Amino acid sequence: MIGSGYVGLVSGVCLAEYGHDIVCMDKDVAKIEGLRAGKMPIFEPGLEEMVRDNVKAGRLRFSTDMADCVPDCEVVFIGVGTPTNKETGHADLKYVYAVAEEIARHVKDFTVVVTKSTVPVGTGDEVERIIARTNPKADVAVVSNPEFLREGAAIKDFMIPNRIVVGIEDQRARPVMTEVYRPLFINQAPLMITTRRTSELIKYAANAFLAMKITYINEMADLCEAVGANVQEVARGIGLDNRIGTKFLHAGPGYGGSCFPKDTLALVKTAQEYHAPIQLVEATVAVNESRKAKMAHKVIKAAGGTVAGKTIAVLGLTFKPETDDMRDSPAIVIIEELVKAGATIRGYDPEGMENARHVLPLITYCDGPYQAAEGADAVVIVTEWNEFRALDLKRIKVAVKTPLLVDLRNIYRKDEVARHGFRYICVGRPG
Ligand code: UGA
Repeated sequence: MIGSGYVGLVSGVCLAEYGHDIVCMDKDVAKIEGLRAGKMPIFEPGLEEMVRDNVKAGRLRFSTDMADCVPDCEVVFIGVGTPTNKETGHADLKYVYAVAEEIARHVKDFTVVVTKSTVPVGTGDEVERIIARTNPKADVAVVSNPEFLREGAAIKDFMIPNRIVVGIEDQRARPVMTEVYRPLFINQAPLMITTRRTSELIKYAANAFLAMKITYINEMADLCEAVGANVQEVARGIGLDNRIGTKFLHAGPGYGGSCFPKDTLALVKTAQEYHAPIQLVEATVAVNESRKAKMAHKVIKAAGGTVAGKTIAVLGLTFKPETDDMRDSPAIVIIEELVKAGATIRGYDPEGMENARHVLPLITYCDGPYQAAEGADAVVIVTEWNEFRALDLKRIKVAVKTPLLVDLRNIYRKDEVARHGFRYICVGRPG
């Protein structure tokens, strides 16, 4: 497994759990040394224990050297990052291509090379070309096998997937990939084998569809506010039609994270390049982008039209709960807009504060929700951590200057909050 970030590490450890012999490789020496010492580079529930057990069982080890692992492997996964190139909006494939070159130099016998990283259509073809160019003697089959795991639920998503998608051109890879995933079939996971380009596109099509679904309900929430309807009931009312489904219809401050923003943008770029633009996804990207600032203005409006000189407590900084990931978190734009409008921010997040300090250096970091609330003119819930679902509102009331709760994740109800003397503003509901 080349690349021991989110996708690589979780996939590697889960495959080890199912009995395969796995080497997780990364060129980041500190990361590998940490992993050898049992220190996880990311926060993911259940990961640390699973790493420890599999290392102990002798099925999992860590390495910084391809020469030490690639020659003996039947399957080499590429799980390195594909960040957005800030100038072009494209997925940046330099890490994938560099790894492909290096794999080419080290393969010995027939090897299946699998891209697990999210890569644009046609990347598999390029990986194949790079390997052939670097080492004409390399006998490889290049396969696409996108990963559909969610941060915070990554292990469960890997172990009990809705489906496994494998894109194959060289049919010799078919029995090998079936063998890799055989242990998961006991969980009834359907294995879909298709062409490489189709498989690459499935990943983007899935993420863009989910991003569209969220954006649709977010716009519906705005309409609900305008007409006096309740977006949670609209979501349930439409979601019970199983052609629509109830999931990913929670209105909120806009989607964030390392996947949806990057993948929607990359899909837009690919579609434009092939002269088949997907306008629905283009609109999704634009609507989601503007939504974050819109949420800051919702707070400003709730605070009486200005936050200049006011103190705002922000609860939750990561893009979603159960992760320490700050990448593209809506909290970043919301806080920056509030600061621009003259507010002082007191922030708290159960896991994300270390990462938050890099992107949001100007806020005061607090030890908990009650400390964050001290002297605040508004308390704003941006991420729905469980810790915020049962706040002691009496205690918050004593701490704040003005009892105003802006709940951007709809985790409270107006009546229960009003009972404690708070004014309550949420998203797409009367209360
Ligand atoms: C997402 C997909 O859900 C995974 O299937 C996919 O494998 C992954 O991207 C990836 O491409 O690697 P992830 O970004 O970890 O997973 O998190 P999600 O749970 O999908 O949440 C994404 C964002 O959407 C969050 O900001 C979340 O708050 C927001 N969201 C989600 C909503 O605002 N409303 C919803 O109903 C659901």
